[in-house]
Amino acid sequence: MIAIGSDHGGFELKKAVMAHLEKRGLEYKDFGTYTKDSCDYPEYGRAVALAVASGEFERGIVICGTGIGISIAANKVPRIRAALCGDCFSAQATREHNDANILAMGARVVGEGLALKIVDTFLDTPFSNDERHIRRISLIEG
Ligand code: RB5
Repeated sequence: MIAIGSDHGGFELKKAVMAHLEKRGLEYKDFGTYTKDSCDYPEYGRAVALAVASGEFERGIVICGTGIGISIAANKVPRIRAALCGDCFSAQATREHNDANILAMGARVVGEGLALKIVDTFLDTPFSNDERHIRRISLIEG
């Protein structure tokens, strides 16, 4: 199950991502925002991050205008590793190396076609389980 959220800047891209997840038969829950009205990205980054950190959701996807603000907010929650990706190489590497559990994207940065490829890469790439990556992740957690 995937937790997804955005601010107004990411609202349209989030709708495209949700339609894509539906096409793939993947279940998700939308944590808002639910309109295009201006709103505060930390609220939605935190809501998705808490949902993933609780263990109820395997992965999260957060979107704002740049992807920066909402990824910063998500990363404040313990056990969250939110990766801002604007290309498929990063999406693959952050799954293999960082076991990232949240994908962040900037709707004003990536087009819809690329964003959906990034989503697929992020969701379909397993963690490497390499000892060195496990050690480095545990060093992040402190
Ligand atoms: C909203 O205008 C914009 O600041 C927000 O979507 C995001 O880009 C912040 O990091």
